Amino acid sequence: MKGIILAGGKGTRLYPATWACSKQILPVYDKPMIYYPLSILMLAGIRDILIISTPRDVPMFKELLSNGNELGINIEYKIQEAPKGIAEAFILGEDFIGNDSVCLILGDNLFYGNGLSKLVQSCSNLMNGAILFGYKVNNPSDYGVAEVDENLNVLNIEEKPKNPKSDIAVTGLYFYDNSVVKKAKEIKPSARGELEITAINNLYVQEKNVKLKILSRGYAWLDTGSNKNLLNASNFIEMVQERQGQYIACLEEIAYRMGYINKAKFVELGNRFKVSDYGRYILKLAEEI
Ligand code: DAU
Repeated sequence: MKGIILAGGKGTRLYPATWACSKQILPVYDKPMIYYPLSILMLAGIRDILIISTPRDVPMFKELLSNGNELGINIEYKIQEAPKGIAEAFILGEDFIGNDSVCLILGDNLFYGNGLSKLVQSCSNLMNGAILFGYKVNNPSDYGVAEVDENLNVLNIEEKPKNPKSDIAVTGLYFYDNSVVKKAKEIKPSARGELEITAINNLYVQEKNVKLKILSRGYAWLDTGSNKNLLNASNFIEMVQERQGQYIACLEEIAYRMGYINKAKFVELGNRFKVSDYGRYILKLAEEI
């Protein structure tokens, strides 16, 4: 399975913080936002990853993550000229995806919770259909909202409905079979001029080929859409890390634990950041595991 991180857009709701750089470069507490979705793909065992962003921001992501080889993964980059919709990721990523299935994660979506690695690993062998993740929220109108029957079969998904049919938001983590590329070419832009991911998801709904997995209350799905949400997300990460002494989305740790890199590389990467808490965390961990 291939992985795509969509990290474009203008981040207008965070202006002026995002006037000169991508929203997904901004820190969530102690690391760039993109570390969090990247960590999910790495935990799923997905090692071929495409990062899609704007002409302005791709160079910065390259500087940050390079080709990924130091983390034992392969990262490629693709430019999205204008934010024409999330579903455009599959058109831009067609060659990269080839004949594989694909997992898309939005660059501004943060997930955390016990069992998440196993959950995403179990999705990474998907060959047929789509897997979506639902999360109960207070403000469903801000998201794609799933209408479901009593057995949690998805009947329909509406994008930012004024009168939502449920409080189950569809999160920005999606697993698809290879037909997603064809589907992305089929759909037409919405009223707001975007190729909507919800339109793709509804094609799978029509085929009765979509599974909705509910992320229960034990999981955190954090929003980074406003300054307040971003601060709350930072506070959440700080609180958990401080309390547990375990970092969330430490890419080097994940690479080492997943067996993508050896101990020597792990230590080398820790030394690179040894003047920060993040680097010291890696070096301390290297002595323990
Ligand atoms: O976060 C989950 C929600 O994400 C879903 O529930 C919605 O169904 C889905 O449409 C999306 O809603 P948003 O309003 O959050 O989408 P937004 O336009 O803010 O884009 C999400 C991320 O994707 C953001 O980091 C920018 C990036 N993006 C977006 C578009 C439309 C791109 O890189 N390119 C694009 O063309």
